[in-house]
Amino acid sequence: MEFSTKTIHFNQPPDPVTGSVVSPIYQTTTYQQEGPGENKGFDYSRTNNPTRKRLEGVLAELEGASHCAVFGSGLAAEHAILQAYLTPGTEIVVPQDVYGGTFRMLHKVFEPIGCKVSDVDFADLEAVSRVITHQTKLVWLESPTNPRLLVYDIKAISKIAHAKGALVVVDNTFATPYFQQPFDLGADLVLHSVTKYLAGHSDLIQGAVIARDAAVFEPVGFLQNALGGVPSAFDCWLTLRGLKTLELRMERHAVNAQKIAEALEQHPRVKRVYFPGLDSHPGHAIAKAQMTGFGGMVSFELDGTVEEASQYVSSRQYFALGESLGGVRALVCLPCKMTHASIPAETRHALGLSDTLIRLSPGIEATKDLISDLIEGLDALGAKAGVREKELVQA
Ligand SMILES: Cc1ncc(COP(=O)(O)O)c(C=O)c1O
Repeated sequence: MEFSTKTIHFNQPPDPVTGSVVSPIYQTTTYQQEGPGENKGFDYSRTNNPTRKRLEGVLAELEGASHCAVFGSGLAAEHAILQAYLTPGTEIVVPQDVYGGTFRMLHKVFEPIGCKVSDVDFADLEAVSRVITHQTKLVWLESPTNPRLLVYDIKAISKIAHAKGALVVVDNTFATPYFQQPFDLGADLVLHSVTKYLAGHSDLIQGAVIARDAAVFEPVGFLQNALGGVPSAFDCWLTLRGLKTLELRMERHAVNAQKIAEALEQHPRVKRVYFPGLDSHPGHAIAKAQMTGFGGMVSFELDGTVEEASQYVSSRQYFALGESLGGVRALVCLPCKMTHASIPAETRHALGLSDTLIRLSPGIEATKDLISDLIEGLDALGAKAGVREKELVQA
């Protein structure tokens, strides 16, 4: 069964009771038992729910795996992995530019109870090799990263981690299983903020943890019930509905992103464009080798002031100014004042995250409309202030 067929048919037969071709929403807390302890595989919806079970089956299959637990948010999913594998005295190694919510959970929740958090530039494989020790339980990476869309070599990093006995977690939120299959590259656990491309319509918050190996999955599956951070049946149903168009959406997101990146690269008010599909991107070769498409996100550095960047992101016609990404409707954000505002300015700058870096999440709107919206806004900024002054002096 091919990818798009799986999103529609896998684990979703017509309902045996009514013939309904859409799986019903089992909006129930509990299940009538035939006798004490005798049930049809469901006893309480925190533990298991038929709608959630359908979704978990599909997500596991799309990642080429067989085990999945969904959670009420991407961070709840992360928490289950960290709780399962990090104990006081053990270590996790993360990239320097790991997602801010992961950074906060590690430093504010797990470090205070005695877990060691080490960060390193994951593009430097020798440094990665030096940092990972036999105390390292988890090596955690995102690729492409947020917001600079850096691409890390999942296969090479997994090999280094496995040699020291660590498990590899890949946050596959940006690429999705349509463009990247981390288990084939060596991952032990795959994480998703389902909130983004998988659900795809900016209308819910959800997370997932997926594994191939039953033993690796077992402690996370246990914690899904024991910690209880499960999503509602309705949200699971919405994700099942969203997944049916995942392939079509990702194809359009990727075309829009590529065309936008190419158009922005030509504009004099753009200092630098970050998109793995551009030859100029430092991770282009790795992206070509480990992904089947370059994803739907684009970031760029405006050649101007932070005030100009703020004005620009606040006045787009189609790109709504907002946090999040991966929905059918275009979104734009200014990380230094929004998603990454909690990181001190010096740290942000040291990571190469400039204050005029703008992150775009093109939706599935017509490419032409999105490009015009972005380019007209840049044109409206006029020539850079310094250039204008120079022209006036010359005149
Ligand atoms: C790469 C990545 N991982 C995890 C998360 C956390 O997911 P959620 O917001 O669904 O809790 C996010 C959220 O933006 C993200 O971008």
